[in-house]
Amino acid sequence: EPFSEPKRYTVAPSAAGRIELSHIQGIPLLERVVKYWPRVEKFQASEEDLLIATYPKAGTTWTQEVVDSILNEGDVEKCKRAPTQVRMPFLEMTAPDGSSSGITKLEVMDPPRVIKTHLPIQLVPRSFWDAGCKVIYMARNPKDTVVSYYHFDRMHLYQPEPTVHYSICLVLCKMGILGWGSWYDHVKGYWKERHNKKILYILYEDMKEDPVREVTRIAQFLKRQLSKSTIEHIVQMTAFSAMRENPMANYSTIPDTIFDRTASEFMRKGEVGDWKNHFSAGEDAAFEEHYRKIMSDCPIPIRFTI
Ligand code: A3P
Repeated sequence: EPFSEPKRYTVAPSAAGRIELSHIQGIPLLERVVKYWPRVEKFQASEEDLLIATYPKAGTTWTQEVVDSILNEGDVEKCKRAPTQVRMPFLEMTAPDGSSSGITKLEVMDPPRVIKTHLPIQLVPRSFWDAGCKVIYMARNPKDTVVSYYHFDRMHLYQPEPTVHYSICLVLCKMGILGWGSWYDHVKGYWKERHNKKILYILYEDMKEDPVREVTRIAQFLKRQLSKSTIEHIVQMTAFSAMRENPMANYSTIPDTIFDRTASEFMRKGEVGDWKNHFSAGEDAAFEEHYRKIMSDCPIPIRFTI
């Protein structure tokens, strides 16, 4: 039974020590997220704030860069004013040494703020909904998401080591117990609320396939009138190859004591379908069966190839 949900997950020691996952309302989160949870829960969002929400490794950084480029009308220098995590803080995250956090950064910024989160919809602080904030949610197909997550966990010294996941296939079936919880619940949670709340739901594969179309959709959602040439310029600025070379968008400012770049890179491949290099035909068939069953109540048009 390769894809039954395991009941227990033992986190192996990471190179930086034992990195544990704790829980908030049944959702596994890093201990340093849980430790400061009361501050996150009480965060006061303002109506002009914009939330970018994703399951980890779904293309968060890409969406952030597209949004910042739209808000700055394609001005490259303005978008290079600071690294991603300073321009658009990560709501629930605290630095491994506790020296800074998303909340402390946000508290000294004036709205409108662009805020990153990986929280599933039920954990998003209430003030975002009370204030009527806009949310952009990006989903990515789970096979590529989990391959990316696997490499990220190898690289990030303060994430649980993925060595317990002796194959990518096993990681996939354990998605419910990776940090930030089940991929399925995450993508479905935002999907089901997209018409009740101000949520723009976008797909990584759609953005890869036709970035001009998707950047235009995002600009319209943000009520920004941009010329065709500005949109095309933004598409170029936010292409994988451009972001990989941009020190303010590629996380090169994160020290080697946190990111072990000999293990993997943050800007790793940026492709649709890399999962084909990691799954056997048998593993894939087993996953597909599992996926169809679990997604049958929620027809999100997610594609595994483009
Ligand atoms: P891969 O590991 O498959 O390369 P997140 O920002 O949510 O952590 O997601 C990271 C993933 O998005 C990585 O995937 C990364 O390479 C990819 N990515 C980052 N910028 C991108 C871009 N401009 N275009 C396409 N993919 C991008």
